[in-house]
Amino acid sequence: MKLNKEPYKGTRDFYPEDQFVHNHVFHAMKQATHAYGYEEYNSTMLEETALYAAKTGEEIVKEQTYSFVDRGNREVTIRPEMTPTFARMIAKKNRELALPARWYSYPNLFRYERPQRGRLREHWQLNVDIAGEKSLGAEAELISLGAQIMKNLGAGEGDFIVSINSRRLLNSYFKDILKLKEEDIHRLSKLVDKKNKIPKEVFIEQAEAILGGDCGQLLAFFDATHIQELEAVVGIQFFQENVGIAELSNLLQMLVGIGITQARFDPTIMRGFDYYTGIVFEFYDTHAENNRALFGGGRYDDLVGIFGVEPITCVGFGMGDVTARDFLEVRGLIPQYSSSADVHLCLMDGVALEDMMQIAQVLRGHGVTVSMSMQPRKIAKQIQEAEKKSIPNISVVGIDEVESQVLTVKNLLSGNETKAPLDKVHTLL
Ligand code: HAM
Repeated sequence: MKLNKEPYKGTRDFYPEDQFVHNHVFHAMKQATHAYGYEEYNSTMLEETALYAAKTGEEIVKEQTYSFVDRGNREVTIRPEMTPTFARMIAKKNRELALPARWYSYPNLFRYERPQRGRLREHWQLNVDIAGEKSLGAEAELISLGAQIMKNLGAGEGDFIVSINSRRLLNSYFKDILKLKEEDIHRLSKLVDKKNKIPKEVFIEQAEAILGGDCGQLLAFFDATHIQELEAVVGIQFFQENVGIAELSNLLQMLVGIGITQARFDPTIMRGFDYYTGIVFEFYDTHAENNRALFGGGRYDDLVGIFGVEPITCVGFGMGDVTARDFLEVRGLIPQYSSSADVHLCLMDGVALEDMMQIAQVLRGHGVTVSMSMQPRKIAKQIQEAEKKSIPNISVVGIDEVESQVLTVKNLLSGNETKAPLDKVHTLL
């Protein structure tokens, strides 16, 4: 039987050209997180299954985790997201940490999903979180950081929008105005979450089944495009007293104040996870061929507390590499591949490999990145090899070069040739 050359379903091999794009995306993310003073952390891919059972949200835990029982009978899950791990790490050192903590990480995550555009079984996800900051400044900072990543990736102002909502507003609307019971709130939340993906009639039919009657007011609520429009739906008293509404207005105002022009209120933004308690937000691509969520997050007050310590409020977001790459692709922003080697040394017959390696070492000592042939094949073949690997320069090393310690460097794009002693070659590149 022949073994399968394909990677496991829904995962990817990263050939050098793919890894190059992957690094480009992470570089854009990392530059932004550093500019905002975030510290990098990391952890293990394996967690106890119980970590996710408490709060992550039913669908992910029941249908999408890779879980198994280890040889010691422990129930183990390969991390489907980083937030529970982040909360666990904050909880573990809650007394020692200087709060607020601003942390980021770029883990690979595993979810048993039906692979499709933007969704795979393994993806890398930038996680940026702040623990211990209750001011709405935390949300504003994270949204601004997200916008900076988009800019670093090459996005123009109109290339994305930021949709913002409040779990606090939704919960009190469901409970105090619609008078729904806990389980119906849950059902309605899941239905609203898919509102924009299903036909309107289906939404209405299912909403009416949950409400047990007409859903005209509910539709007016979820069709609102400005917070002010909610006043007529929920009544003036609720509108003036609801903390969620006040937070949304303040945040939107703050964002305008710091120059984020893409933010708007969208009452249908739910975010799948059960742990969000406050503001939730989602960045969307505005391109017609990629009109989808790019990344999102929100505030979660109760996750750290499940570890039996004093609760610590956290806000954060997760941004996946797959959706970021789709964003680049539809706009022709994928960077041109270039090798990590500045120059490839071609080996002529009669030159000892040790001499060639010594030349390479001198160049490397001056900061030049060097690859080399180890077989004295036809020079044309060696040049072809360098071209195939997108190495920009070559230098042929023969007996003369070894003796003179002077190299001629040829730029493969322009065809120009320049000459310098070994310790000056770096000035030619
Ligand atoms: P999430 O919405 O599940 O949130 O994922 C965040 C982002 O990760 C998505 O918007 C998408 O870019 C990417 N992503 C998620 N699942 C997949 C997948 N199967 N394939 C490819 N990309 C995917 C969370 O995971 C939260 N824990 C984020 C967070 C951090 N909230 C607070 N802090």
